[in-house]
Amino acid sequence: MSDVAEPQETVELKIGEESYSLPVITGSYQEKGIDISKLLKTTGHVTFDEGFKNTGSTTSSITFIDGIKGILEHRGYPIEQLADHSSFTEVMFLLLNTELPSATELSHFEQKLKDNATPPVGLRAILDSLPREAHPMSMIGTIISALPGFYPESVDSWKNEDIRWNTIYRLLGHMPAMVAYVYRRRQGLAYIDPDPSLGYVENFLHMMYGEVNAEVAEALDTLLVLHADHEQNCSAATVRMAGSSHVNLFAAIAAGNSALWGPLHGGANQKVIEMLEAIREDGGDTQKYIDKAKDKEDPFRLMGFGHRVYKNFDPRAKVIKMYTDKVLDALNIDDPVLDIAKGLEKEAIADPYFSSRKLFPNVDFYSGIIYRALGIPVPMFTVMFALGRLPGWIAQWKELRESGQAIGRPRQIYTGYTKRDYTPMEDRS
Ligand code: ACO
Repeated sequence: MSDVAEPQETVELKIGEESYSLPVITGSYQEKGIDISKLLKTTGHVTFDEGFKNTGSTTSSITFIDGIKGILEHRGYPIEQLADHSSFTEVMFLLLNTELPSATELSHFEQKLKDNATPPVGLRAILDSLPREAHPMSMIGTIISALPGFYPESVDSWKNEDIRWNTIYRLLGHMPAMVAYVYRRRQGLAYIDPDPSLGYVENFLHMMYGEVNAEVAEALDTLLVLHADHEQNCSAATVRMAGSSHVNLFAAIAAGNSALWGPLHGGANQKVIEMLEAIREDGGDTQKYIDKAKDKEDPFRLMGFGHRVYKNFDPRAKVIKMYTDKVLDALNIDDPVLDIAKGLEKEAIADPYFSSRKLFPNVDFYSGIIYRALGIPVPMFTVMFALGRLPGWIAQWKELRESGQAIGRPRQIYTGYTKRDYTPMEDRS
């Protein structure tokens, strides 16, 4: 692991007749970032980058992405190797602690999660007070937000290391039961208690369905590994932004979870299945929908296509595509939307509109098909994403805490009215 080197290089910025020297910071893979943090003080200018498309908001040693080459690494380990060899709990440990665990460390870590597998019973009452048809993301968001109420000491999770780790174990430990509670509340089924003899993912399936299928558990474990972190995406950046005010871990994660809900982020997996179903019901004419996606007058977009960072392929999508066939075979499921998905992918990739804009299937394009095969209802998909992304969010929050970064506070370019006098009601037209 290498920290950011002392700036050796500078770039010159010329504003009018004045020249300013800006340091260039260099990452582990020689990525370069121009440090503009002192620009306002020295030049009176802010930088402008709507949507933070080109702004590094932090240094980080958790996850590396090269969107052009399709590389995703956690703490240096390629995602393909982690998907093949690691378990979800091992990846959690890696994200939080920088190194892969020894056997003893892993079993200690997993025991901590088991010790915290049962959430406060009051969460069930909160869920019971919500309408059964409430969106699962609203349900999970509500009970994550409620956790500081049950663990008041967690407000010190920013300050105190023991409380910090207890809060981390609690959240990771509780999350499978919380997701299962949401599912069962919506299905109108009785809640199931965790079984301490089972591993993390098996226990989740036990609390969801009351039974565990080993092949399903294996596939789900891999799917969760593939979702575990993705550096400074919308939800992780939200966790960091909220966390930078020194808010407790639960509250910061609740903020990130809300950001995940949107259809342009974690909500996309739900939208993909809805889109594939709609195409099927409309006769399966994939070309018609390709044409709609290309039509700038039509708001329709191909859900599950395109990515802010990956511009050639999403390495997670490659692994998931392989798993989709494996899971459907193992469970003996013939899902007609899979054929539509494959047809859509083939036609889109061959179409210059998509290739010229570097639009390829992202992680969500196939994950929904697997979730469906696992018996997870479509509105629950984004909650499943949250279950997978939780360790990444926590690692981002923890890193922020340990780096002592300042509170997040972007600037703006104001484009509204300049100063004007108050208009009395009778003078307004
Ligand atoms: N279908 C059709 N056209 C698209 C799509 C799409 N899915 N995605 C982008 N484009 C087009 C845009 O219209 C734009 O065209 P133009 O240059 O002619 O104006 C061009 O491609 C660039 O698109 P942007 O929106 O500027 O790309 P950006 O990087 O901002 O957006 C995003 C990335 C939000 C993922 C976008 O591709 C999208 O909306 N995809 C569908 C939703 C989706 O799958 N989201 C999940 C992302 S993965 C994740 O969060 C886990």
